[in-house]
Amino acid sequence: MKDRFKEFEWEDKEGMFEVALDKALDGKFKDEHFPLLRVKNLCKYFPIYSKGFLKKQIGTIKAVDDISFDLMPGETLGLVGESGCGKTTAGRTILRALDPTSGEVHFDTFTKLVDLCKIPEKKLKPLRTKMQMIFQDPYASLNPRMTVRQIVAEPLVIHNLAKGQELEDRVVEMLRKVGLKPEHRTRYPHAFSGGQRQRIGIARALIMHPSLVVCDEAVSALDVSVQAQVINLLQDLQEDLGLTYIFIAHNLGVVKHICDDIAVMYAGRIVELAKTDDLFNDPRHPYTKMLLSAVPNPDPDVPMNPALSGEVPDISNLPPGCSFHSRCSICKEGCKDEKQELFKVGDGHYVSCNLVDGKK
Ligand SMILES: Nc1ncnc2c1ncn2[C@@H]1O[C@H](COP(=O)(O)OP(=O)(O)O)[C@@H](O)[C@H]1O
Ligand code: SF4
Ligand SMILES: [Mg+2]
Repeated sequence: MKDRFKEFEWEDKEGMFEVALDKALDGKFKDEHFPLLRVKNLCKYFPIYSKGFLKKQIGTIKAVDDISFDLMPGETLGLVGESGCGKTTAGRTILRALDPTSGEVHFDTFTKLVDLCKIPEKKLKPLRTKMQMIFQDPYASLNPRMTVRQIVAEPLVIHNLAKGQELEDRVVEMLRKVGLKPEHRTRYPHAFSGGQRQRIGIARALIMHPSLVVCDEAVSALDVSVQAQVINLLQDLQEDLGLTYIFIAHNLGVVKHICDDIAVMYAGRIVELAKTDDLFNDPRHPYTKMLLSAVPNPDPDVPMNPALSGEVPDISNLPPGCSFHSRCSICKEGCKDEKQELFKVGDGHYVSCNLVDGKK
């Protein structure tokens, strides 16, 4: 496979990452100018089996297909695209909640670098305290038969990290941090509003002080006014606890104010990756432009174009060539034959489209 990692020219001065990897194999390593996370050529495929007694593999869903990016400590990467493009699968595979099909996920634990794709299952448990996920549906992800105190304390109990008064103190402190009243900790989730339940979910995810947090559509189910409050809370907590986020959303508007970089996904692949300002001011990929046209404009005089035109292709049976060609208004003949790779168009800005200026 072509080594896209080198082609990308990630500010990898003199192969710093490779050297650090070698060092990390035999010693301690910590560098704040080094990515907390480096995802390289990551793939997650799901086999499709025939029905009946003799189950034969009849196809493959390429839910995540060769994605690469860097994430610096304390920063936020947005992962954006329509439903079914592979965002959740990417998030779960990065955290090794799903086993990858291939690729690398280098994670800096601040004592050593590990490749989460290669590490054996039994060595994953201590690392799980450093990586957490916040889910879309705060009700479905909270056990209705547990009190808030039990829900928030559970990760510490499972990992045997605190008990007795210390456990109680940490729960109280965490509830305060997320803006909930500690005296409500004996209540059950149903007694709280949607926004408050999401705060309970956030408290549970952060109680072990992880360094990497994947927020999977964490505000998508909430009312717009509550969305803003929860996003503000996540930003405050990021500052307070030194968190690094992958922020998954299907709407570019939601990620604008929280993300340093944004990766736009389409049919399992990243089609554009850029600093947030560059993506909004100078979008290059026709799909990014389509997503941007669907972001509501605060100016009431600007007409809204909320509908995304065309159908998302069947991810288990993608056409050859550019997977966006069936919806692309500027599609040319060659687009249907040639698979698109990301190439660099500016500082930290990568696009996979035949017709974008600057293609080598
Ligand atoms: N466990 C699974 N088995 C088979 N297919 C799956 C599984 N999980 C997700 N998929 C498929 O992978 C694709 C990407 O799904 P997902 O990652 O949930 O997308 P998104 O989060 O962007 O909506 C979809 O076609 C989905 O049906
Ligand atoms: S490669 Fe062609 S079909 Fe694909 S996005 Fe670019 S112009 Fe459209
Ligand atoms: Mg999802």
